[in-house]
Amino acid sequence: MNIGWCGLGRLGITCALAMAKHGSHHITGYDPSDRPRQILAGEVPPPEEAGIEDLLDATAIDFADSPAGVVAATDGVVLVSVQTPHDPRFGGESRMPDRPVDFEYGYLVQAVRDIAQAAEKQAKPITIVVVSTVLPGTTRARLAPLCGPNVRLVYGPYFIAMSTTVQDFLQPEFVLLGSDDPHALADVADMYKTIHDRPVHAVSIESAELLKVAYNCFISMKIVFANMVMEICQKTGADCDQIADGLALATDRIASPAYMRGGMGDSGGCHPRDNQAMSWLAGRLALSVDLMGYVSEARERQSAYLADLVEHWHRMSGLPVTLLGKAYKPNVSLTQGSAGLLLAEQLRERDLQVDHKDIWVDDDFDLPVGPQVYVITAKHDYHTAAAIAPGSVVIDPHGYMPDQPGVTTIRVGRKT
Ligand SMILES: NC(=O)c1ccc[n+]([C@@H]2O[C@H](COP(=O)([O-])OP(=O)(O)OC[C@H]3O[C@@H](n4cnc5c(N)ncnc54)[C@H](O)[C@@H]3O)[C@@H](O)[C@H]2O)c1
Repeated sequence: MNIGWCGLGRLGITCALAMAKHGSHHITGYDPSDRPRQILAGEVPPPEEAGIEDLLDATAIDFADSPAGVVAATDGVVLVSVQTPHDPRFGGESRMPDRPVDFEYGYLVQAVRDIAQAAEKQAKPITIVVVSTVLPGTTRARLAPLCGPNVRLVYGPYFIAMSTTVQDFLQPEFVLLGSDDPHALADVADMYKTIHDRPVHAVSIESAELLKVAYNCFISMKIVFANMVMEICQKTGADCDQIADGLALATDRIASPAYMRGGMGDSGGCHPRDNQAMSWLAGRLALSVDLMGYVSEARERQSAYLADLVEHWHRMSGLPVTLLGKAYKPNVSLTQGSAGLLLAEQLRERDLQVDHKDIWVDDDFDLPVGPQVYVITAKHDYHTAAAIAPGSVVIDPHGYMPDQPGVTTIRVGRKT
């Protein structure tokens, strides 16, 4: 394939060379900086990336003098990996400023505008694949309006780490692609199939944007947790490597996809109180961060967010509020540490009349007569078949309730 590539910096030049060699593709690239040409000419050293010397020996990239040259040379796909930088003060090498800011999108906007205009001028249908890191909403708000009828837009970031870019690009855990256009998604997925057989996760543009940064943020969270354990170990005589080795054996619940889906807050007889005990220990040991205290507080604030949503729909509809589920997990009557009970308490503190029922807990369970604002606080199977009165609103944090005629179902944080 003839593939276009705009932005041949650290990520771009490394991945473009790997794409050229391992897919036997011909890459035409554009970068306003001379550095990529100088790297290929051997005049300056390449980025410090394992395997890049071999790629430079084995293959090459052609350079265009403008984005229009890239558009003219491509069979249809143009990858864009220009910088979306932060002020260096946000880089992490020194203390962060008081206020966080978004990435700087000026370079990316300029690159996409130039490529999209060239496609229209040449009347050439192309797919622009934006690789640069952006926050959710950016592509639709800032990039899509720049694209005319000849341009299909895909957001397709990479999960690569500096120094292992070649390996991460050639053998990724998965390929992430976000687009409104299924044909564009299929074409770009086919392009990656020429270099590996890793699974493709095709989602909406916004989900792809968020998944890219959520991936990195989850790693940051794991590291902060591991370092909290290290600090406690230093102060108690426990050994943090023994803790890490034990947690790594917990492949059902810890090192696994378990507990990664949005829903009700953490519940049960152990977790909320363990977090509180650890928060107490943080004070006792004068830890640098009361992480679990913050987790406890976050659980209550996230429940308050659900309470806001319930209150909003109650006021909008004028309907009474009924919570379905006191149990803390599906299809049992256990209510210890139940986030459903916490939500009911928070709603009552707002002087809302709340009925709270549970098919597994209450002997006299009956659905109320007439439409309600229902909140599905336990993921019992029964709820999916319950006869919800038409005119009701169902707020479902678990995302499992089916559509029912005349019922407005809000699967929190889900588009469908
Ligand atoms: N480097 C990484 O390990 C890594 C990993 C994941 C994601 N990313 C993301 O990928 C993007 C690129 O990162 P990078 O490290 O390669 O940045 P970089 O600064 O090294 O390279 C960006 C390149 O884009 C060029 N450029 C600027 N405007 C352009 C335009 N209009 N047309 C063509 N080229 C243009 C610049 O001259 C530069 O060579 C960023 O959004 C970054 O957050 C980088």
